[in-house]
Amino acid sequence: MKAAPLHPPQLKFPSLSPVDRLRLDALRERLDELRPRNIGYPCNQDFDFEDLFPFLAYSINNVGDPFGSSNYRLNTQDFEREVVTEFARMTHAPENGWWGYVTAGGTEGNMYGLYVARELHPKSICYFSEDTHYSVAKILRLQHTRNIMLKSQPNGEMDYSDLRETLRIHRDVPPIIFANIGTTMKGAVDNLHKIRAILDELAITNAYIHADAALSGMILPFVADPQPWDFAGGADSISISGHKFLGSPLPCGVVLARKQHVERVARSIEYVGALDTTIAGSRSAITPLFLWHRLRTLRPEGIKDLVHRCLELSQYAVEKLNASGIPAWRHKNSVTVVFPRPPASVMSKWIIAPMKDIGHMIVMPHVTQAIIDEFVADFASALRPAPVAPEPATL
Ligand SMILES: Cc1ncc(COP(=O)(O)O)c(C=O)c1O
Repeated sequence: MKAAPLHPPQLKFPSLSPVDRLRLDALRERLDELRPRNIGYPCNQDFDFEDLFPFLAYSINNVGDPFGSSNYRLNTQDFEREVVTEFARMTHAPENGWWGYVTAGGTEGNMYGLYVARELHPKSICYFSEDTHYSVAKILRLQHTRNIMLKSQPNGEMDYSDLRETLRIHRDVPPIIFANIGTTMKGAVDNLHKIRAILDELAITNAYIHADAALSGMILPFVADPQPWDFAGGADSISISGHKFLGSPLPCGVVLARKQHVERVARSIEYVGALDTTIAGSRSAITPLFLWHRLRTLRPEGIKDLVHRCLELSQYAVEKLNASGIPAWRHKNSVTVVFPRPPASVMSKWIIAPMKDIGHMIVMPHVTQAIIDEFVADFASALRPAPVAPEPATL
């Protein structure tokens, strides 16, 4: 179904030259070839959004607060509200006590959470572990928020004794704790109950906890025994990426925060007729449709099945790598399989994210057992010493 044309039919849009068309064909071919080899970055490659193609014909925009009104009525804010409401349910947000919107990705959600925290506590210090995503230090610099990087444990989880000691030294300053709910490289979860217990032990009552659940925020709601990570675990705000586990052709995410915090930072802007609660002005109206489509087609049972299949395959990958002599491990409830940094020949075929001496595979819904087998075979053969050529026979 095409959008009704706005202009007379004789005024056609100019079309691409044959050369430019060939360039697009070549791009498609390249992407088709690379897609199954993307095993190092947490971007689900497996979705079908054909139902939504017609909506690319409209200049739609979700400027402003999704729960307010907007002068720009070509929007999808009713769909956006459904999406964030579903995420609020999955993260155990307090009934009628939360607010949220669809962001441009996990980074914007983290920026939003840290912004709200800093507005609540202007003289705060933000604490984050050395395994935190690289964008967080940049956000803190942009916001001029004082911050302290904490040590991590070897498994990637925050070093709680370093947190305790550092908080003790700065007990007079309100802390913002930036908790990783699935670190980028090792999939480690900073335990919110342990963090809250340390704050209680030190009698610190004015703390703010932001949970960066970029990938694991779509996994932990569907496992039997999740680590404490969400609003029920004590978070004040949570950021989850949409293009990671759920999957979307455009980067996106969802941020949620306790309503009483958000109300402190909202401002009304007459020009757009909306509450200026979001970080960006113009916001995508397509990405809420992508997320809505995934949620409506998969339903919670479908997402749960995907999560369980990925967790089982992650365990399969760990065992297969170990059986091939490559030490590999993963955290409980994590689809991130950690191993030593693979040799260059493996990294040129596979899209892998290395850091220092480690690499990882992230078992997303598009990763199959056959892909794991091929990767492990390539990795193992690259580690095998090259066969020594026999000495030439001498007369
Ligand atoms: C733990 C963590 N936080 C934040 C981000 C940034 O998310 P996004 O790429 O959606 O902006 C990532 C990305 O990989 C991540 O792993």
